[in-house]
Amino acid sequence: MAEPALAVRRRSRISSARKRSHPPAQPGATSSPLARKRPSGGGEGTPAEPLCNNDSEEDMFGDYDSFHESDSLLAQVLDAEPQHSQEKGLDVKAAGRFAHGNLQSEMDQSKQGNLHAAGDSSVRKVDEHYGFQMNENDAGDADEDLSDSVFDELPSSQLLYLEKTRELSSRSQRSAGTERMDKWENSSLDKIQCPSSPCPDSGHKNRSTKSSKGSVCDSCKSVSLKDHLKNALTGNAKAQTPKVSKTKQLKEAILSEEISVARETIGSSSFDIGPFYGLPSKVKHLLRQFRGIETLYEWQHDCLTLKSLQQRKNLIYSLPTSGGKTLVAEILILQELLCRQKDVLMILPYVAIVQEKVWGLSSFGIELGFLVEEYAGSKGRFPPIKRRIKKSLYIATIEKGHALVNSLIETDRIDDLGLVVVDELHMIGEGSRGAVLEMTLAKILYASKNTHVVGMSATLNNVGDLQKFLQAEYYTKNFRPVELKEYIKIRDTIYEVDSKAENGFTFSRLLNFKYSSSLEKADPDHIVALVTEVIPKYSCLIFCPTKKNCENVATMVCKYLNKEFRAHREKEKQDLIKNLKDIGNGSICPVLRQTIPFGVAYHHSGLTNDERKSIEEAYSRGVLCLLACTATLAAGVNLPARRVILRAPYVASEFLKKNQYKQMIGRAGRAGIDNAGESILVVQEKDKHLVRDLITSPLENCYSNLLPEITKGMQYLLLSLVGLKIAVTQEEVYSFMCHTLLGVQQQLLLKEKSLSEIVRDELENLIEKGLLKGKIMEKDQNSKSTLTVTLLGKATYKGSIDVSYCNLLYKELRKGLEGLVLESSLHLLYLATPYDMVSNCSPDWMIYLRQNVDSTAVNRLYLSFVLYALLKETNVWSVSEKFNMSRGYVQNLLTSAASFASCILHFCEELEEFWVYKALLTELTKRLTYCVKTELIPLMEVAGVLEARAKQLYNAGYKTLAHLANANPETLVKTIEHLSRRQAKQMVSSAKMLLSEKAEALQEEVEELLKVPTDIP
Ligand SMILES: Nc1ncnc2c1ncn2[C@@H]1O[C@H](COP(=O)(O)OP(=O)(O)OP(=O)(O)O)[C@@H](O)[C@H]1O
Ligand SMILES: [Mg+2]
Repeated sequence: MAEPALAVRRRSRISSARKRSHPPAQPGATSSPLARKRPSGGGEGTPAEPLCNNDSEEDMFGDYDSFHESDSLLAQVLDAEPQHSQEKGLDVKAAGRFAHGNLQSEMDQSKQGNLHAAGDSSVRKVDEHYGFQMNENDAGDADEDLSDSVFDELPSSQLLYLEKTRELSSRSQRSAGTERMDKWENSSLDKIQCPSSPCPDSGHKNRSTKSSKGSVCDSCKSVSLKDHLKNALTGNAKAQTPKVSKTKQLKEAILSEEISVARETIGSSSFDIGPFYGLPSKVKHLLRQFRGIETLYEWQHDCLTLKSLQQRKNLIYSLPTSGGKTLVAEILILQELLCRQKDVLMILPYVAIVQEKVWGLSSFGIELGFLVEEYAGSKGRFPPIKRRIKKSLYIATIEKGHALVNSLIETDRIDDLGLVVVDELHMIGEGSRGAVLEMTLAKILYASKNTHVVGMSATLNNVGDLQKFLQAEYYTKNFRPVELKEYIKIRDTIYEVDSKAENGFTFSRLLNFKYSSSLEKADPDHIVALVTEVIPKYSCLIFCPTKKNCENVATMVCKYLNKEFRAHREKEKQDLIKNLKDIGNGSICPVLRQTIPFGVAYHHSGLTNDERKSIEEAYSRGVLCLLACTATLAAGVNLPARRVILRAPYVASEFLKKNQYKQMIGRAGRAGIDNAGESILVVQEKDKHLVRDLITSPLENCYSNLLPEITKGMQYLLLSLVGLKIAVTQEEVYSFMCHTLLGVQQQLLLKEKSLSEIVRDELENLIEKGLLKGKIMEKDQNSKSTLTVTLLGKATYKGSIDVSYCNLLYKELRKGLEGLVLESSLHLLYLATPYDMVSNCSPDWMIYLRQNVDSTAVNRLYLSFVLYALLKETNVWSVSEKFNMSRGYVQNLLTSAASFASCILHFCEELEEFWVYKALLTELTKRLTYCVKTELIPLMEVAGVLEARAKQLYNAGYKTLAHLANANPETLVKTIEHLSRRQAKQMVSSAKMLLSEKAEALQEEVEELLKVPTDIP
């Protein structure tokens, strides 16, 4: 379903690669199969709200403008290494010996002290402090002698490891290839292969050398053959310098040793913690390097050391916006991946946030040796590839997360999932997406006893219900690192929101402005006065109720801004205009052309992804200082905003909800970006009492959306429960439903029918539709008669097709078999045009107006013409002009169609008679997913590389993924316009991650091929 566009800009974050598996031609099916009857919170909505196939398809952003140069210990090693070798005239080997020597002597000096045993709890106690307060000395002087800087800082576990190394090396001299050595190597080197490592198989190499000295057993032979093949396949993935220094190996070995120690620590269920919350100290360095985070907040430390977490109880935690919730979740994720060696699913609400998170965590994946896989839009594989060694972090939208969980249950792999993290947990109460989230979590809780669930949000109220549903503990703290001052404005008076005051607010000041009569008329709410108190020095966001209003506000403000505003960062603003023109193939939105010279722009779902990305980036850098936006920028977003203005207490025509209000104002004063923040809600006299209620009322409760009268969630859920064999009798289905949020809230929500009656009716309904088979007992909710899913039923839930139109889809596909016109893709496109977008289409079409025809078919046909034009012209701008539709809508149609085509593909896979569609739809899905010139597709597979950027790269000679993965970021910055250093680094690291994942997938295939069958006769 179309979601409000979401901007994401994490200033102090490095990005990196997203991971995706195999070919783009296999985009995952799914998205919500559900119709949305209630609007989801926040958001004027995109032009259409498809029911099933579009999981908040939005853009992603390359927004990183203040890269914190690495100053961590390990980063120093990395940085200093080539320089060091050069300066000292050492070859790589010598440099390694040098480092090792120092390390050992350092160890000798200190081993009498605190270095006895990493497993020793006294040592860990020391590290506990180390974990919480990052040591200032960590950030050593870059010029400092490498050996000193490296070894001064080594935690005890690493020194223990070095002791082991020495011991082992002397042993290995005595007896090559002993069992112990193999074991040690396996635990330390093999397991922690870094995907970016120039030599991922260094561990193997060592082993084969040794083997060659000793007796060569059969298994060794097969390993070396496999390695040989693997090496050939991974050739391209070796994106860095082909030489591996010993220092680098040493670093990796240290890291791997730390991970093994951490793993033991976690496994021992003791409350003692490892170097950094049970994680290698490298994580701490990476946090500083990539995020600029020096110290954890006290609450973050308290939360991470909660007894309940150590006991692996599920957890819900809630803190105000910008409280730093994400970091806690990320540390828990790393613990799961590295220490418990389990896969993790992270569910985020929007495509844009998923992509941003993929960028942000891929660099951690590269450094720490885990995979990051993107499940958003049409990306993601179902079921995911089973990895041999590395663990995967799946970052998914709500809909894709659900499909992923279904596929893991179906393939009996749900126990591989150690942890599921849900951000913005309050979304469980928001329409059909909430229903999907609820069924995902209910399935996990029911199907896997070992999967840990963690949810977070800034806006939760009825936590008790959620705790009961998730069987979770609760942690909360009223902490916000940057104070947020809330104001409301009525006429020319500003009041401060004050919960202690009788009215809910107290007088603060009079707005100081001199308005001409014409200005007073154009701007009766004094928006110009409010923004000019802040811009251009600081940034300001104005939330507006509608898209049109955003454009009007931006235009109006510019009309009355002093001409001096034009001078502020003039050149960069001109560049932005030029960039937008390039993106639009020479066209630029006239409103933006007019407002950007003043540092002002609008932001809503009518922009194309490329435009939105450029605007957000310019705003993040301060080139633009004012954005007039819809609620699309409201949740989970880190953008600079000294002041947030709410233009009116409305979202479209609905009065603002408290949750929406809190999320919007929470964009002001983000930690690490601003050191102060304030919000001003513009109120008309007539709304004064409503605003008072808004301010004094508690946050809204989250209620289940599984009720049949609200969404189609229940039917879809029941179908998949039977299909996945989670529950196959009426009794089991009822028992499952009692464990949902609806089950928890049944007394509150169910008035006319009991839960068992609803279950019975819905099951009957599914049988009537031909999706289920079996008998339903009128009176006996405990019926043990088995239900089964029909072929159509299976196709429906596998394809995430809405149950309300699965029969229609089947009929149309059947009809297609009688005479599919294959002369062009038009007929196929018609079949792939999402049903959910049809109601929002009003064709400018005389025949349609004059005749009384089936509007669904006609509108769908009209939309398929739009898609057809898009595939031919590959230009959203010209097609939107031709059909007089907003470019945002056209782009949304394209992404929805790509997603729906993929759903139909999975639908057809289950129905033999539709074999012909499989091949056709695979190709069509690919074409819709990357509606660009074919040569750009490999580049656009890289997370965050949209069409405009891909074109630039291609024209500059970066034609393949391998070109990009091997690119020098510095050269990229010089040759590619509008590309910051941080973006360049992220892009290269993204490409590396992708390449490495592809290579990994090939390796898996090789392994599989070479496996000797155990049942050879
Ligand atoms: N310990 C820390 N020290 C410094 N900055 C931090 C720390 N923890 C988090 N931050 C920064 O604070 C900012 C806000 O954090 P985060 O995005 O996690 O907020 P949040 O609690 O998820 O807010 P919201 O509810 O609005 O999504 C981020 O830029 C993050 O990097
Ligand atoms: Mg957040």
